Amino acid sequence: MTKDDILRMLRASTTDHLSGADLAARLGVSRAAVWKQIKALERDGFRIEAVPSKGYRLTASPDRIAPADVTDRLGTRVIGRALVYRTEVVSTNTLAMELAQAGAADGTVVTAEKQSGGKGRLGRTWFSPEGGLAASVILRPAIPTHQAPLVTLMGAVAAAGAISRSTGLPAGIKWPNDILVRGRKVCGLLTELSAEPDRVRHIVLGIGINVNMDRTALPAEYRERTTTLSAEKGGTVDRTGLLRELLRELDRGYRMLLKDPAAVRTAWKDLNVTLGERVAVRGGSGDVEGLARDIDAEGRLVIRLDSGGIVQVAAGDVTILKR
Ligand code: BTN
Repeated sequence: MTKDDILRMLRASTTDHLSGADLAARLGVSRAAVWKQIKALERDGFRIEAVPSKGYRLTASPDRIAPADVTDRLGTRVIGRALVYRTEVVSTNTLAMELAQAGAADGTVVTAEKQSGGKGRLGRTWFSPEGGLAASVILRPAIPTHQAPLVTLMGAVAAAGAISRSTGLPAGIKWPNDILVRGRKVCGLLTELSAEPDRVRHIVLGIGINVNMDRTALPAEYRERTTTLSAEKGGTVDRTGLLRELLRELDRGYRMLLKDPAAVRTAWKDLNVTLGERVAVRGGSGDVEGLARDIDAEGRLVIRLDSGGIVQVAAGDVTILKR
């Protein structure tokens, strides 16, 4: 019997108390052994109410990812069949790329409580302290290399879906793959690729979500444009539950990608907040301003310039201009 066994039972019964005798009998141990594990759980940061003659009830969990709870009865086909959990890494994407090179299976997930060198798009740093969610998924899709950008679009759809389902907040996608809540960024994606000219070897899809950290802890230069789920929701968000939801959404999205790649683009368009807006795109291969018309099959943003010309932009930062 481990403390995880007791935790599982307490979690399954958050409204009723579970008596020490009952727990002991179900686990085939003494009541003293149960008590010892309850104390160990409290040292881990769980709050457990103990009422004489009624028993124990879990009242609060530490804001930490519980790997066993992420994978327990997850119900996915591919994503999260293997989970690598660390308290700290430099970058989950870097570790995932190393594991992929060493042969890790399709769907393996790498997550960590915090990253000391989280990587963002366009060579930037991704601020990734405790209280955030950092996850990288190793994918081995049998797709031609030119379809690889669809993986990022699929990841953005999955992340927006998981955020909405877990928090009830409205999440939209700003091209290329920022997830916004009420106009501010809560999540970013970074895809890294190992490919041959005509086929993908493996892809690491990295997803970073600002969850429970204090908004004022975000780097000053981003603070106006970014937010956290807890700030928007007005309360702590269960990161274990959010990660589970994310893996389920990714599993659905991955299946869609392999079966019907065009459907990924449609799903992205349904959730996007960029198309139909006047935008300025900076970085990438130069600055462009115009009307965001569409995304093409390669995930590039199609912009109609004021001159009437059409350009496709592959990378950059979009600002949605006020009408
Ligand atoms: C962006 O610039 O918006 C992309 C941010 C991507 C951050 C995630 S966190 C998990 C994974 N590991 C990393 O080092 N980066 C990605």
